[in-house]
Amino acid sequence: MTQTTQRILVTGACGQIGSELIPVLRQRYGDTNVVATDIRPPEADCLKDQGPFELLNVCDRARMDDIIARYAIDTVYHMAAILSATGEENPTLAWDVNILGLVNVLEIARQRKLVRVFCPSSIAVFGPDTPHDCAPQTTILTPTTMYGVTKVTGELLGEYYVHRFGLDIRGVRYPGIISSETLPGGGTTDYAVDIFYHALKYKSYSCFVRSDTVLPMMYMPDCVKATMDLMDADFNSLRSHCNFNLAGMSFSVEELANEIQKHIPDFVCDYAPDFRQAIADSWPQTIDDSPARTQWGWRPRHDLKSMTRDMLEKLRPRLT
Ligand code: SER
Repeated sequence: MTQTTQRILVTGACGQIGSELIPVLRQRYGDTNVVATDIRPPEADCLKDQGPFELLNVCDRARMDDIIARYAIDTVYHMAAILSATGEENPTLAWDVNILGLVNVLEIARQRKLVRVFCPSSIAVFGPDTPHDCAPQTTILTPTTMYGVTKVTGELLGEYYVHRFGLDIRGVRYPGIISSETLPGGGTTDYAVDIFYHALKYKSYSCFVRSDTVLPMMYMPDCVKATMDLMDADFNSLRSHCNFNLAGMSFSVEELANEIQKHIPDFVCDYAPDFRQAIADSWPQTIDDSPARTQWGWRPRHDLKSMTRDMLEKLRPRLT
């Protein structure tokens, strides 16, 4: 295990993953060594009160470079992105934020010789031509969304910077992430979070994909663990860098609703599929993550049962 990281910058700090990754990074590396950045000011007090926060639009390379220089950053977690559903509503915005933002991070990493960069990818790299069950890591990537197009491009760019410039760039293909602290924004898998809020507040939920829709999902503690574990891995043990498949759990919406009903018996779920159904249908149902398991020891800890119990325990006091 390498432990060279000293000074970290996180983009997209106020987002679903950033807001839970930062407290863990600050706990481990020290509050002042983790600079949170986002295009909007933080709502969560902990982000601004416990360590430095800077406003940053990732498309603004000069400002990104200034922050990285000013704080003597050596490691970046580049979490800022436009997700699949928002990306379909505004494809050029998705391209600009996801591609220009990434190129800015990679170029600054090259010029300033940063030690390590984390650039997440997504199950959105897959498309209708990918095997739907046990999608392999190396497979046909023909995404139908602009988000997916930017994530395939991002994986290739990251790998290019590893081989062409000798940088240490790493990334995983996150599945849908389920969490209780910050709502996800603009993704197709958001229903798997929304359903908990509606179940507790209204005892009913109208889901925007069909009941039999199965997608790969992961609970936030596993998401943070995977991120930290990959960043800790010995670079020499990695045979690829920016495209690790990552599986947690896969379930249909109906199975999720049934699991919630075990805790909230009068909860009812109905279904009103919209444009996000086609996006969901283009992604695999299950993922083969054996390269992550063998190369850096990845193992998820949560399943549908434990995730549902924990989500309801965390959200109940806030919502009821
Ligand atoms: N959660 C993302 C989305 O639905 C997938 O990576 O867009």
